[in-house]
Amino acid sequence: MSKAEALAAIYEEYYQISESILDSFPKYRLPLDLFVLNEEVAQLLTYYRKSQRLSNEQVEEVHRLCAEGNLFVSRRDHPIYSQHIVKQLDLVLVDRNLKEKEIADICIRAFDLRLEEFFAQPVRPLFNQLISDLQVVTEYIWADLHRLRLFTNRLHKGDYSLARHSINVFSIGLWLYVYPANAGLRRREFDQAARGLLLHDVGMSKVPAFILNKTTPLKPEEKEKIPPHTLNGYKILHKLDEEGHDLVRQAALEHHERLDGSGYPQHSTTISSFGRLTAVADAFSAMLQKRVYAEAKEAVAAAKELTEAKTRFDLSFSGKLLAALVNDSFGKVK
Ligand SMILES: [Fe+2]
Ligand SMILES: [Fe+2]
Repeated sequence: MSKAEALAAIYEEYYQISESILDSFPKYRLPLDLFVLNEEVAQLLTYYRKSQRLSNEQVEEVHRLCAEGNLFVSRRDHPIYSQHIVKQLDLVLVDRNLKEKEIADICIRAFDLRLEEFFAQPVRPLFNQLISDLQVVTEYIWADLHRLRLFTNRLHKGDYSLARHSINVFSIGLWLYVYPANAGLRRREFDQAARGLLLHDVGMSKVPAFILNKTTPLKPEEKEKIPPHTLNGYKILHKLDEEGHDLVRQAALEHHERLDGSGYPQHSTTISSFGRLTAVADAFSAMLQKRVYAEAKEAVAAAKELTEAKTRFDLSFSGKLLAALVNDSFGKVK
């Protein structure tokens, strides 16, 4: 094997670790092994094993090796590395080693974690944490809108959870928002659309967990607890979200309104464009996940059903979704 081949093999199996990532780990006891590259002989030597404690001199040396670009971690430690980044999501923006698919997985896991926490307790510190992760993700997608495909390719199907449903609505809705006429798209609106989609169901956090998690059909008195979630969601967001943007309000308040007035809470027939978009993303996501009252549906069948319900759902959005699924262009933004 030539030296170049040996180096290429090393880069397949190991990541070069950046200084900002190194700094984010505990100083003396790192949760993963470290390796040093000897470029002369194209070999990696083990420098540190995860159970050890580094001395002060070693801490300095590790930083020097890292600054020189000679410090590596093994892809075998990817679960530890990615779990670490899930909790410090801003690191994905400076990481040079993760593949796009790995970044999308990490972003989705971070959303899942932050949403579960926030829905369990919708208070300001958890809201701020969620929003700061959301800003990282929108920053990442905004830099290349084609990255939306990574998210629409990772829709949660199967068992329902409010967090997983919210992530689906974020991915589907943001794609509908961006595609196809994205020429005049502005960052502020894009961010607010993302926020509205991810948090459209925040009012569901006020519905008792035993109702949300029931595995048998809801009784009439339990069903009554669901519709107020739109207004409650709006109130929660109004309190926590100082910016109070129109798109966030429309997503929370209008996602259950229907064109023929059969929706709730207003039974309105004049629904904002973003409210209609969120309704399509929401209903589509709901059909993909298994519920007590319905089996999970396959994506094309779900989109088709929405286009057939054109008296209730805006065909300009459901039609776009169906066409993209049929042409396998869902997630592509051009
Ligand atoms: Fe809802
Ligand atoms: Fe929803």
